[in-house]
Amino acid sequence: MCIATWRKVRIFDTTLRDGDQMAGVELSLEDKIEIARILNELGVDIIEAGFPASSDVDFKTIRVLSREVSGSKLAALARATRKDVDAAAASEAHVIHVFIATSDIHLKYKLKLSREEVLNRISDVIEYARSYTPLVLFSAEDGTRSDREFLVQAYREAVSAGAKYINIPDTVGAITPWEFYDLVAYIRSKLPREVRIDVHCHNDFGMATANTLVGIAAGADGAQVTINGFGERAGNAALEEVVSALHFLMGAETGIKLEMLTEVSKLVAQKFGISLQPNKPIVGLNAFAHEAGIHVHGVLENPITYEVMPPEAVGNRRRIVLGRHSGRHAVAWVLQEMGIDPPRELIDYILYKLKEVAPRIKKVTEDHIWSWVREFRAGGALA
Ligand code: KIV
Ligand code: ZN
Repeated sequence: MCIATWRKVRIFDTTLRDGDQMAGVELSLEDKIEIARILNELGVDIIEAGFPASSDVDFKTIRVLSREVSGSKLAALARATRKDVDAAAASEAHVIHVFIATSDIHLKYKLKLSREEVLNRISDVIEYARSYTPLVLFSAEDGTRSDREFLVQAYREAVSAGAKYINIPDTVGAITPWEFYDLVAYIRSKLPREVRIDVHCHNDFGMATANTLVGIAAGADGAQVTINGFGERAGNAALEEVVSALHFLMGAETGIKLEMLTEVSKLVAQKFGISLQPNKPIVGLNAFAHEAGIHVHGVLENPITYEVMPPEAVGNRRRIVLGRHSGRHAVAWVLQEMGIDPPRELIDYILYKLKEVAPRIKKVTEDHIWSWVREFRAGGALA
């Protein structure tokens, strides 16, 4: 599906707010500022840098950044209370992001409010936030488990009170892509075209990226994402997955510098103190690694055989890994990379060593290969 002809997709990064809510993570003011700087350089449209009413570090982060960041806009989260909005405004955020839950589950067990009271809160607090800034975003928390007609009513209330953007959160990652498409298209059809819609998807069933993409295909204008998908429970939609899929699969542009994705992912993982799984899409160590003989042969002939995008385009790199599954092409290529013009017998020798030894040592390094080359040169023969 190509959506490039109709619009640029806005990227709202919430690594510093929803990401920072990840269990066991505690970012310092310095960490947050360093991450925000690189997000700005990466080209995100909006950086949600925290929740000022709930954290002094977040308040200070936004204060410091609002004076130095020039590209991205800064957003601050606020519950639907005037006190939270005051804190967000005092932080000097450009965008005030007001949220309140709209599902009956949250109304009954958490907020203890009636639907009417929720609507009143929305109109009162959004109007109040508008007295500080024209850039007010409204999120209906647990939107995907809310009654559809009430959800539309809540968004209409927010828009009449002056919200410029609305966000549809799948707070507990509880919706399938086809249902989410239908929901986003429905809400889109019920709101004036000038109201910008974001989607915010959690990954409890591993569908956050898919849901974000269908939300965009259904008419949303922006994606709320985090670097590496870091966030509450199973996390959020991963920025690097969403922007790469938008670019390479859907033909849509975001303004993100794709070639910075791997570097940004590494910095954020380091600051969060979390090591990434090697098979992480786009930015993982193995995202462009090849070992199986047939694959390596194909990639060495032409990378498009087994790579859906060039690794350099997302700042990653191709790795040809030697192991038990390797074939002649891989061995020859690795030896050539090591500056050796390998005779057929040396390739056979290394292949033999790989089949014999690799299952025991698990990870074959260049040192292993050099030692086998030396063995071969010293007269090592196949058993
Ligand atoms: O997941 C969620 O509902 C949120 C809101 C605050 C937008 O993070
Ligand atoms: Zn969230």
